Amino acid sequence: MEESVHAYEKVTKSWVSHGEADTAALAEYFANLAKPGTILALDGDLGAGKTKFSQGFAAALGVKGVVNSPTFTLIKEYEGRLPLYHMDVYRISQDEAEDLGLDEYFEGRGVSLVEWASIIPGLLPEERLNLRIEHTGGEGRIIHCEGVGTPYAQWIAALPESALMMTQPGAGQGESKKDGELEDGKA
Ligand SMILES: Nc1ncnc2c1ncn2[C@@H]1O[C@H](COP(=O)(O)OP(=O)(O)OP(=O)(O)O)[C@@H](O)[C@H]1O
Ligand SMILES: [Mg+2]
Repeated sequence: MEESVHAYEKVTKSWVSHGEADTAALAEYFANLAKPGTILALDGDLGAGKTKFSQGFAAALGVKGVVNSPTFTLIKEYEGRLPLYHMDVYRISQDEAEDLGLDEYFEGRGVSLVEWASIIPGLLPEERLNLRIEHTGGEGRIIHCEGVGTPYAQWIAALPESALMMTQPGAGQGESKKDGELEDGKA
């Protein structure tokens, strides 16, 4: 009907990862596109590969040195081609996160990578890249990519087919529609 005021364009694709290298390749793709204010929201179970992705992203952004999970520090800053703000909000609630002043990061000169972003939906800019990493057994992962708004929808539209996309050109549901089967089982 006539509810959604901000109908941002959404484009989704799934990236099949057979191992860390494939996950790093996807991270590198986005790192090369990143600009000041870029937001990446990462989700997926414990050990899915959010931090691995972040490490690949940081390396491709030119960050030197070790990028660890900021689970206890919540936010760590690095310098690469752009500043990188690496956050992990696993241990806090959205209410607690409100006091962290995350807006300053999201609106800053750098790139924000947020692990467990789905914990703080109300604090994230609507226009962002959502990545949800799903285990498929062993080293297999499917990385569900959703670009919302500008330029993220275009990034996903242009994502190369290298690691093989699940959505086939003629499969029928490749529009920027709803993601009806988003979580299978998690509601
Ligand atoms: N295809 C893959 N992509 C990413 N990581 C993989 C892959 N296959 C195996 N791994 C391994 O899975 C683990 C992912 O751990 P990582 O710390 O990145 O997960 P996480 O999602 O950040 O977990 P947490 O929620 O605990 O922070 C690493 O040990 C990594 O080597
Ligand atoms: Mg992690």
